[in-house]
Amino acid sequence: MEVPWWRDAVVYEIYVRSFADASGDGVGDLAGVREHLPYLARLGVDAVWLTPFYRSPMADGGYDVADHRDVDPSFGTLADFDALVADAHGHGLRVIVDIVPNHSSSEHPWFRAALRGEGRDRYLFRDRPNNWRSTFSGPAWTQVADGQYYLHLFAPEQPDLNWRNPEVHAEFLDILRFWLDRGVDGFRIDVAMGLYKAEGLPDTTDQAFKAASPVWGRPEVHEVYREWRRLLDGYPGRRMAVGEVWTDSAEDLARYVRPDELHQSFNFAWLQAPWSPTAFKKVIDDTLASVPSPTWVLSNHDVVRHRTRYGTADPGTGLARARAALLTMLALPGSAYLYQGEELGLPEVTDLPAAARQDPVFLRSKGRLPGRDGCRVPIPWTVEPPSHGFSPGAVEPWLPQPASFAELSVEKQEGDDDSTLEFYRRALRVRRDQVGSLPYTLEWLESPEGVLSFTRGPLTCAINYSTRAVRLPRHEDLLMQSGPLRRGLLPPGTAVWLRRLS
Ligand code: GLC
Repeated sequence: MEVPWWRDAVVYEIYVRSFADASGDGVGDLAGVREHLPYLARLGVDAVWLTPFYRSPMADGGYDVADHRDVDPSFGTLADFDALVADAHGHGLRVIVDIVPNHSSSEHPWFRAALRGEGRDRYLFRDRPNNWRSTFSGPAWTQVADGQYYLHLFAPEQPDLNWRNPEVHAEFLDILRFWLDRGVDGFRIDVAMGLYKAEGLPDTTDQAFKAASPVWGRPEVHEVYREWRRLLDGYPGRRMAVGEVWTDSAEDLARYVRPDELHQSFNFAWLQAPWSPTAFKKVIDDTLASVPSPTWVLSNHDVVRHRTRYGTADPGTGLARARAALLTMLALPGSAYLYQGEELGLPEVTDLPAAARQDPVFLRSKGRLPGRDGCRVPIPWTVEPPSHGFSPGAVEPWLPQPASFAELSVEKQEGDDDSTLEFYRRALRVRRDQVGSLPYTLEWLESPEGVLSFTRGPLTCAINYSTRAVRLPRHEDLLMQSGPLRRGLLPPGTAVWLRRLS
């Protein structure tokens, strides 16, 4: 049977506001993405996922959509989008777009009508709020002029839609058709475990993301994905959907990717695992045992970049581990999601001035929570300040870049074999040639304490989490290394791909 393209794909997440600015307003845009498609093709990814570029007041960087069928003027036009899709396909890159079904913008015509008292049943209005809290801190309810309250699990500018209203279903099917007809290859479903809330909206003291919560992961939501799957299957070209599902177990995750539901779901357990062989092994085992179409992800626009997560004491440690984790991830069965800038080894920017920050998590918590701006700092393409090639000319980018970004720029790394960029390019090339098509089964090899080694067909991957250098497993060839070996030994924080002895 033909293997669908998404099953082993490497997908590159583009946070559009921070990737490349062609228009010169300091904010990334679709034309900027289009200009850099050759870079992405050369990097060796199979697809791009574009974060929301729809009309939006930007209360949550575009995850507050006011018109699902148009491009926000700050990102360009529908013609720019069409040109981007055509060029991406010309480069052999698929395009996945973001769909935000849990909530709309408070500027959406439906919500404006609701405020006038028309069609309130498209949202969750009540006379009295329950005790739910917003994920972005503060209460999850805001009162309107006539005394009623509406539910918003995120910012007040993001009112939750009422999925028990059939009109909401019809509207989203139509939105999906709109983008499918424009040629997109797939969708990333925002807050896919949201949408439905328990009948009666009961109070709760536990709002953690987990199965059997009154707030998240209600069983009714699966019917939505069945509806969407039928639509996707009706289109030619293997269109797909990947869910942003935060939950507490691989078994629950697997419910979203049943054969008649979503094709994939992000595996956040992998991204949440600390740098430890037991943690990595457990996630791999749990995932492969439960999820038929596994995915792997280390960073995205909502979390601290993995280079920083894996070690801040000395920046070299974090970067070495980040590169080792990449090799591990790319050797696993399934598909991998990369986040823009990780191929440059970008760290989280932790010292952004408060005045520059825009994330509602930071603003609503009054700075108590650091927020997510630190992983959204614009990409350094060149050495030159003020924007390192992100914007044309002397334009300042919407978030300031630290001076260290000059050394991490594409211009600086290109052609330097030791650079993280050239390492990513090599790893993706070797994966495409030799790893992508390997069998889906994985076998653990016996390894020294603090080391994980597994094989997939002729490939062995070994990762050293310990603090001492160890012997490499027996092998014929060294295919890839995440960092220099030490006298033939595998140093701490390093991974290798080996061809097994035949
Ligand atoms: C998702 C997005 C995040 C956004 C939230 C609300 O988690 O990835 O950036 O803030 O949904 O839409």
